[in-house]
Amino acid sequence: MERYQVKGAHPLNGKLQVHGAKNAALPILAASLLCDSRSGQCCCLHNCPQLSDVEAACNILRHLGCKAVWQDGALLIRSGDSSDCRIPDHLMREMRSSIVFLGAMLARYRQAHLTFPGGCELGPRPIDMHLAALEKMGVEFTQNGDGLDCCVPNELHGASIDLPFPSVGATENVILAASLAKGETILRNGAREPEISDLAGFLNACGGCVHLEKDGTVHISGVERLSPCEYSVIPDRIVGITYLCCGAITGGNITITSARPDHMRAVFPILEEMGCSLKIDGDQVSLLAPQRLKAVKNVTTMPYPGFPTDALAPVMALTAVAQGTTIFTENIFQNRYKQAWELCRMGADIRTEGRIAVVRGVKMLHPAFVNCTDLRGGAALVIAALATEGTTTIGEIRHIQRGYENLPEQLRQVGACITIL
Ligand code: EPU
Repeated sequence: MERYQVKGAHPLNGKLQVHGAKNAALPILAASLLCDSRSGQCCCLHNCPQLSDVEAACNILRHLGCKAVWQDGALLIRSGDSSDCRIPDHLMREMRSSIVFLGAMLARYRQAHLTFPGGCELGPRPIDMHLAALEKMGVEFTQNGDGLDCCVPNELHGASIDLPFPSVGATENVILAASLAKGETILRNGAREPEISDLAGFLNACGGCVHLEKDGTVHISGVERLSPCEYSVIPDRIVGITYLCCGAITGGNITITSARPDHMRAVFPILEEMGCSLKIDGDQVSLLAPQRLKAVKNVTTMPYPGFPTDALAPVMALTAVAQGTTIFTENIFQNRYKQAWELCRMGADIRTEGRIAVVRGVKMLHPAFVNCTDLRGGAALVIAALATEGTTTIGEIRHIQRGYENLPEQLRQVGACITIL
């Protein structure tokens, strides 16, 4: 089992390039299934990160008869036909977001057979909103043990759908299914995350008709056919924020490049309140950190454009060594504080109760043997270790590898001492 070894307590300085967004690439990969490749044309995805979750999505595509190959850093996908329209349990379990293939399979094959993604490190992950929305479009579901048989007995048609909560995955599934359905779909209270806009951008480049309004209403007109296209995935806003946090905790001076600062806006005021100076210049953000960070009063996660739940753990690592007390309120997932226990093993003072976490900043953390509990929690441990005198060992790094491309190599470029054991 691989581990990271981090020798901390020196400032990180220099430039880091932000790679493509995992959470944009995954639904786009599902959408590539919708393209008609009979002409032999392929979808060509640029800036697609090479991550284990992306590989898991490629394995699902391959299982469904598609070809997915890397060529000169781009991912080429040629969609194909599946004989059984089934995603086996082991492929579903490799990645919770495999549920986004449901909308794509229904659009392409008018049927799908898969197992429930089940719970995960972040708590229960129900799919009730996905199913209720797709039912309105003419899909019938039958539960079959821990599997789900989905079919379209008549036709897949447009519908008027109101989501009770702006679920990212449910919005993506509706957009995918509606893109090849008959007629128009209007989805209200859809998620407004940049990854949704990227999915719409990809589908429109394939000849689809998806229009996003600022208030979260999505209009999708089903088309007869989608064609393969060449597309570049947006930069990963959470990776960008993570890199900035690495600079902030070490008292460093970091510039992230190839970023989309407009997608990261909700986090900037928090970093500034902690004493960091930020400079935005086109696709770059530079952060100059103070000697010691200050606590922020409140950090409250909300759907986009609010403070992202995925940035909570990286920022929590900063507050663990900041001067003063910070209160976190997590409004998206039930179980987003597992990393708090690991940070406490390094000397942090964190108490959690339900959706609330209270972090009293300490002067110094100490090295320990800690384990990643989930992707962003794992990133928080790396951030904390960078500020710790001595050697911290971080286990279960497979969680980090799901969402950060070559993290140790990246951080070494700006002066971090981090190795894989
Ligand atoms: N929910 C339901 N019923 C549903 C769908 C969602 O109750 O049918 C609940 C979830 O249990 C959760 C909340 O609604 O409590 C939000 O879930 P959402 O569907 O918005 O999230 P997701 O699509 O499962 C995506 C990202 C997450 C990110 C969230 C929120 C991907 C692959 N995953 O998850 O990213 O935290 O949106 O922005 O896009 C990560 O990258 O580490 C990660 C977890």
